[in-house]
Amino acid sequence: MANLGVNIDHVATVRQARRTDEPDPVWAAVEAQLGGADCITFHLREDRRHIVDRDARVLKDVVNVKLNMEMAIHPAIVKVAIGLRPEQCTLVPERREEVTTEGGLDIVRLRRRVQTAVARLRQAGSIVSAFIEPESDQIRASADVGCQAVELWTGGYAHAQGERAVRRELAKLEASIVLGQQCGLVVHGGHGLTYRNIEPVARIPGFDEFNIGHSIIARAVFVGLRAAVAEMKALLVRFAPAARKETES
Ligand code: PXP
Repeated sequence: MANLGVNIDHVATVRQARRTDEPDPVWAAVEAQLGGADCITFHLREDRRHIVDRDARVLKDVVNVKLNMEMAIHPAIVKVAIGLRPEQCTLVPERREEVTTEGGLDIVRLRRRVQTAVARLRQAGSIVSAFIEPESDQIRASADVGCQAVELWTGGYAHAQGERAVRRELAKLEASIVLGQQCGLVVHGGHGLTYRNIEPVARIPGFDEFNIGHSIIARAVFVGLRAAVAEMKALLVRFAPAARKETES
């Protein structure tokens, strides 16, 4: 069964709307863990629009499940990550004008720069994952530059309109998992996943982790974060692909 990573950035977005100290994303991390999160994900953006350096430091102390830092490959952010040493760093594209991360990192085009960042982060002891689109050249390039994992952008699936388009996007994800594993990569998924669209992706064998933010935080406004996380976790359990049978010796 895939692990559940909960992205807590939106909690910090609400705090920053008033430039005050509540709600605290660190409290959110604790509640998410109590709800069954296997991983806490945060994005320290270059413009610090939601998560700030203090959050990253306190999360590192408080979180006792996997801590996953989403980050750009910019040297200044790589330096922060090296100081922090989260268990996992996920390299993402970042543009100041975007509302959220839109699409995957173009590893093929940025190969040299990504390679440098990956080497430095791995040397510091973090697992390095890259957020990429489910395309074969991006998967191969991720393995080539030294990533140990990839997070497949599930936005194509989440935004697909009509049954045929949805089936096509799911097939792309399935093929990408197979190729990723052949390249020796651990495969995660994320972006645009909700309580309503998680079932078909959760049923695909081979996803190791899903990172979900907006939908969980939106539900938490009404039911509380602990309950919202527990509900998503229950869906992952319910729709988990059947475990592969052990071959008899
Ligand atoms: N994974 C990555 C790499 C992301 O950048 C984001 C968005 O911050 C997510 C997962 C979560 O996406 P969503 O908020 O749509 O669930």
